[in-house]
Amino acid sequence: MTGRFVTFEGIDGAGKSTHVDWYVERLRARGIDVVLTREPGGSELAETLRELLLRRKMGMQAELLLMFAARSDHLERLIRPALAAGQWVVCDRFTDSTWAYQGSGRGAPAERIAWLEAWVHDDLQPDRSYLFDLAPELAAQRRASVRAPDRFECEDVAFFERVRRGYRERAQADPERFVVLDGERAVPEIRVILEEDIVELCNT
Ligand code: ADP
Ligand code: TYD
Repeated sequence: MTGRFVTFEGIDGAGKSTHVDWYVERLRARGIDVVLTREPGGSELAETLRELLLRRKMGMQAELLLMFAARSDHLERLIRPALAAGQWVVCDRFTDSTWAYQGSGRGAPAERIAWLEAWVHDDLQPDRSYLFDLAPELAAQRRASVRAPDRFECEDVAFFERVRRGYRERAQADPERFVVLDGERAVPEIRVILEEDIVELCNT
């Protein structure tokens, strides 16, 4: 059995967390051995870096480097060993978040991100990425009703417009890997699409 690497992406409040646990349960119901993880985080060191990234004020360059430092440890300690053991890995955010937030959102140069990506994860890419796409105003309303904002969630609508555009460009550039989900659709409707896609992933 070969493991699969699946990521959930989208701007804050677009709906990832609403579906990710359910998605993992659906895989387990099929007898698939799954590890659920997240970024930034997923390993002890990366979770410590997450605290800094979400709370401490820092410049764009430090933010970009810390994201990849966290990712490097996460890949080495959790993601690669799990995939090598034949497990599926479902990750709440991965490098598409860096392209969207640090690249499109903050303006980090594409060649620097590409270089770090090549260094940190070689040719490892997700087999499937779900992009939850939602207008920033609606996402802000939704998340405001459930949690206090972290450092990223304090950014304005213009920032999240850029992040959303960045994500859409990523999805357009790699339609084989991405499934774009309209975050305005009702939860059960989104789950039908996810369930259909699980069947496809299991058969490929
Ligand atoms: P994310 O993990 O992407 O930041 P969440 O899953 O936490 O987003 O969703 C933010 C809020 O929006 C939650 O209160 C959730 O219940 C609500 N929500 C998620 N998906 C939908 C949907 N399709 N329709 C309406 N509300 C939703
Ligand atoms: P998230 O895990 O979505 O937190 P929540 O618990 O609030 O749903 O938050 C992580 C934040 O980190 C999110 O705002 C996006 C940001 N982020 C980046 O900017 N770049 C990255 O590479 C990653 C993985 C996350």
